[in-house]
Amino acid sequence: MSYLSFVLVICTRIIFTLSFSTAQSIGCSAESGEFTTNSTYSKNLDQILSTLPSNGSQNGGFYNTTIGQDPDKVYALALCRGDIAPGNCFDCLNSSIEGIIKQCPSQNEAIFWGPGISSSTCMLRYSNHYFSSVMEVIPSISVPNPNDIISSSQGQFNETFHMLMEILMKNASSGSKFATGNMNFTDSEKIYGLVQCTPDISGNDCRICLQGAMVELSECCGRKQGGRILRPSCIAWFELNLFYDSSSNETPSLTPFDPPSTTGFAPPAATRNKENSRTSRTIIIAVVSTVAFFVVSIACGILYMKKAKLNSSAALFGQLRS
Ligand SMILES: *[C@@H]1O[C@H](CO)[C@@H](O)[C@H](O)[C@H]1NC(C)=O
Ligand SMILES: *[C@@H]1O[C@H](CO)[C@@H](O)[C@H](O)[C@H]1NC(C)=O
Ligand SMILES: *[C@@H]1O[C@H](CO)[C@@H](O)[C@H](O)[C@H]1NC(C)=O
Ligand SMILES: *[C@@H]1O[C@H](CO)[C@@H](O)[C@H](O)[C@H]1NC(C)=O
Ligand SMILES: *[C@@H]1O[C@H](CO)[C@@H](O)[C@H](O)[C@H]1NC(C)=O
Ligand SMILES: *[C@@H]1O[C@H](CO)[C@@H](O)[C@H](O)[C@H]1NC(C)=O
Ligand SMILES: *[C@@H]1O[C@H](CO)[C@@H](O)[C@H](O)[C@H]1NC(C)=O
Repeated sequence: MSYLSFVLVICTRIIFTLSFSTAQSIGCSAESGEFTTNSTYSKNLDQILSTLPSNGSQNGGFYNTTIGQDPDKVYALALCRGDIAPGNCFDCLNSSIEGIIKQCPSQNEAIFWGPGISSSTCMLRYSNHYFSSVMEVIPSISVPNPNDIISSSQGQFNETFHMLMEILMKNASSGSKFATGNMNFTDSEKIYGLVQCTPDISGNDCRICLQGAMVELSECCGRKQGGRILRPSCIAWFELNLFYDSSSNETPSLTPFDPPSTTGFAPPAATRNKENSRTSRTIIIAVVSTVAFFVVSIACGILYMKKAKLNSSAALFGQLRS
């Protein structure tokens, strides 16, 4: 794919996902319209939601399906965090049905991380249009851990954090769309990381989604003892305590790890140049300096400004709900 078409694809997807931007509540799309009580759409929706807990938990934590005929057709998706056992996955999806209905009582399109934002171990999503295998990055909700990192270890933390998350991103986007791992950043402290993409997107889209999430994660939570970014197509999450089930398939070779020295530290490209706009930093994942790239970047820039506004409200929302 040429860079031009690559960037165009990204832009199209951003425009597409901007439909969430006018939602009264983050996670409910206002632009997709509303359904009325007892309509065929609402009955289809109730029916499809009720199948998600059992189907989702039986299919390795991922399930997408559709029901009904146009214009009352409903598409739905269920995803559990990759380390969640089937029973807990079922419970999370089951209680999220109530959550998504409460959050978005009549919207044709909605997304919900359940069973509540404070745990976010599963995700429910539905729409009146097909969305499978399309990478979507909005709404992007950030949920910071309220506690700050001890400032004396901030430098070591930063370096280790980027190293760890890079490895996890590579692992997830080249494989099962899920990766966990940990690294020491001082003699006594570890960073535990988790990344996941929905299995329906490509490895390349997974990487793009996670790279953007990583930029947001360092922004919201790079001085915190934890935090997570929740996007429709991916999540990125870290804590200083073990918060996932490491018994299954944790990326093995990350430990033991020599704590990095505090000197001569150059952060990875994605977070260098703090003064750059979110726009160029996010788009820099597309890389390289062809003329076409910059022309289209300007158009994207305008869109990303809107996205940035939305993200700050999303961050606020995350904090309020956590
Ligand atoms: C929906 O249907 C139920 C029973 O079928 C009925 O009691 C209720 O009044 C209906 N609601 C609306 C808004 O039409
Ligand atoms: C999904 O669930 C429904 C009802 O719960 C069931 O009839 C159907 O066979 C399931 N589909 C799959 C693929 O498991
Ligand atoms: C699913 O959740 C509802 C309430 O949200 C509860 O009444 C029901 O028992 C749950 N189902 C199962 C099988 O746990
Ligand atoms: C570490 O990262 C945070 C957030 O990304 C930044 O604010 C801080 O200046 C960095 N600190 C060091 C010592 O690199
Ligand atoms: C994940 O990383 C570990 C260690 O770097 C490696 O052994 C493993 O094969 C990787 N898995 C994938 C799917 O890339
Ligand atoms: C890493 O941190 C753990 C505590 O989280 C500690 O027990 C272990 O000794 C540390 N390992 C190294 C190599 O520093
Ligand atoms: C479910 O996901 C697969 C890709 O994983 C896709 O090909 C299929 O069209 C999706 N089905 C629905 C109903 O969205």
